[in-house]
Amino acid sequence: MNVTEKTQSTIKAYNKNGSAYADKFMSYQPYIQQVRIFTELLSEGFRVLDLGCGPGNVAKQIMDQKPVSITGVDLSESMINLAQSTVPQGIFFTADIREVVFPANAFDAVVMSFCIVHLDDQDAFSLIDKAIHWLRNGGYLYISFMEGKQAGFELTSFSKDPIYFNYYESNTIQELLTAKGIRILRAANQDYPEMDGTITTDVFIFGSKL
Ligand SMILES: C[S@@+](CC[C@H](N)C(=O)[O-])C[C@H]1O[C@@H](n2cnc3c(N)ncnc32)[C@H](O)[C@@H]1O
Repeated sequence: MNVTEKTQSTIKAYNKNGSAYADKFMSYQPYIQQVRIFTELLSEGFRVLDLGCGPGNVAKQIMDQKPVSITGVDLSESMINLAQSTVPQGIFFTADIREVVFPANAFDAVVMSFCIVHLDDQDAFSLIDKAIHWLRNGGYLYISFMEGKQAGFELTSFSKDPIYFNYYESNTIQELLTAKGIRILRAANQDYPEMDGTITTDVFIFGSKL
């Protein structure tokens, strides 16, 4: 299956199950806690880009804590509709994060919360590169993903339609970020209990652009 087919099936699943995703993750405390810690770095009025914004759960957390200017991008129209009603002050639009373009230094913070998990390595590394380009010097980057498993289609607690997931190593991403001029401020691992009883490791990395 080529990249386009993988993305199409994944987005179809998110379009169908956006509300179930929102029900689960809008109030999922372990993730909310990570966003809270990141938001402490931000200042009022910051321009924040939320890539693969989903139903606006991360945007809402940030806004509840600090009034910033949020731009969110997602390829799922249902997710964008949910995000817009969750955070009416935000600007949300439907686009492929692999293709979207912003000017250099356009944002004070870029959030990539569990979005590279649906991309192939090459696309993920290229998106990280672009995100750093869109971030101003001194700006903050948030990136989260899972490590330790093989890429492939999976069923999840929020979707019975298969979704493509890719996995990354924390060290690989940290080395990539460092090589691209990001100072790592925090790298945390957290257990995520899967519905089959196994544990997946979630990774949260915060950095600042030198
Ligand atoms: C696991 S959810 C993460 C949502 C939210 N950022 C969070 O942390 O809860 C992944 C999101 O990425 C979106 N997505 C997947 N592939 C995408 C692509 N190529 N372009 C834009 N959005 C994409 C999905 O529609 C979904 O809303």
